[in-house]
Amino acid sequence: MAAALVLGGGVGRRVLPMSCVVSPGLSSAVSILIQKRNIHHAVIPAGKSGRSSLSGIVATVFGASGFLGRYVVNRLGRIGSQVVIPYRCDPYDVNYLKPMGDLGQLTFLEWDPRDRDSTRQAVECSNVVINLVGREWETSNFKFEDVNVKIPQDIALASREAGVEKLIHISHLNAEMKSISKLLRTKAVGERVVRDEFPDSIIMKPSEIFGREDRFLNYFSHMRWFGRATPLISMGMKTVKQPVYVVDVAKAIVSVIKEPDSIGKTYIIVGPHRYLLHDLVEYVYAVMHRPFISYPLPRPLYHLAARLFEMSPFDQWTSRDKVDRLHITDMKYPDLPGLEDLGINPTAIELKAIEVLRRHRRYRWYDAEIDDAKPATPVNY
Ligand SMILES: NC(=O)c1ccc[n+]([C@@H]2O[C@H](COP(=O)([O-])OP(=O)(O)OC[C@H]3O[C@@H](n4cnc5c(N)ncnc54)[C@H](OP(=O)(O)O)[C@@H]3O)[C@@H](O)[C@H]2O)c1
Repeated sequence: MAAALVLGGGVGRRVLPMSCVVSPGLSSAVSILIQKRNIHHAVIPAGKSGRSSLSGIVATVFGASGFLGRYVVNRLGRIGSQVVIPYRCDPYDVNYLKPMGDLGQLTFLEWDPRDRDSTRQAVECSNVVINLVGREWETSNFKFEDVNVKIPQDIALASREAGVEKLIHISHLNAEMKSISKLLRTKAVGERVVRDEFPDSIIMKPSEIFGREDRFLNYFSHMRWFGRATPLISMGMKTVKQPVYVVDVAKAIVSVIKEPDSIGKTYIIVGPHRYLLHDLVEYVYAVMHRPFISYPLPRPLYHLAARLFEMSPFDQWTSRDKVDRLHITDMKYPDLPGLEDLGINPTAIELKAIEVLRRHRRYRWYDAEIDDAKPATPVNY
């Protein structure tokens, strides 16, 4: 008789084939347990919710090697979850994730996003799948359609076929079919195909995310390398941004796993305040203790400059698409649930910007108080 395994706990129960024993070294213990009670002890919630307890969550995290990925894996690991980490890079590149879970709780799998069997294998043992795959620029191998539509579609299909209970797909706040940014247009298509393949999927739409390894505050602070003045379209006076702290996004992802009513919902993940882009960048320079001079650069000229960076054979620091994205005003969705509905108090940028920006200060100002920097004034539109 084929042996089976029942996943139970925080997100429900699910029968799995015996090949789905995620923790190495447990197979012999499992067969005994199955005969007696048909439930694998590793997925029955137990303990006081620390990293050595068992949360009942077995989550596959695609895109774990990225900026947001490390925060999500860390939060899952610290509550005692089993995390499957499909990666396509060198195994050494994901080594830093290893201490984020208890011994044997993190499983690393080589993954080829073009191979459907590889995607299926990555999700077949999990009751939760989180898709964090994304890229700010196109490469010769992967266009935005591949990263934002094709890969999410394959993950959603594989998750449905495997009977996964919760699929969490990370999109973007400004994803829209008619956006001037191709990334955001394909993100909007991605949301649609994910819902078609997996109607109960949970879609999360974060605004620009800030945190130590971000490409938002760090991006503006690196602009000082290109002369003393920062170019902004219309001086940043026509763009409103509502950035969100990376830890809040990771907390929200873990909260929707636990939240029974989250199935099939779309969440808006934004910070507590909206700011004019000009004021926000001015604040970034104030925290860095560096002079801020901005000048208006017309979009075509900005695109011309960004085009040069697109020719780089390495990671693109900026691109025409990024210039457009950064100058799009963040949308408002008053009817959709957000961080507060998940019991999370959004963190103000004034409290955490220093974590990102201290390293951009001169030695003389390295330890200066952040109170010296006048916070940007929030706007109501
Ligand atoms: N960061 C933000 O401000 C922000 C704002 C709104 C929404 N989001 C969305 O949130 C998600 C996570 O963002 P992030 O900032 O953590 O992104 P990130 O740092 O660029 O990481 C992206 C992840 O996706 C993987 N990936 C990229 N292209 C891939 C491909 N062709 N095949 C397989 N894997 C691929 C990367 O793997 P490798 O390491 O192998 O390249 C990496 O693990 C993305 O969907 C992003 O669009 C981000």
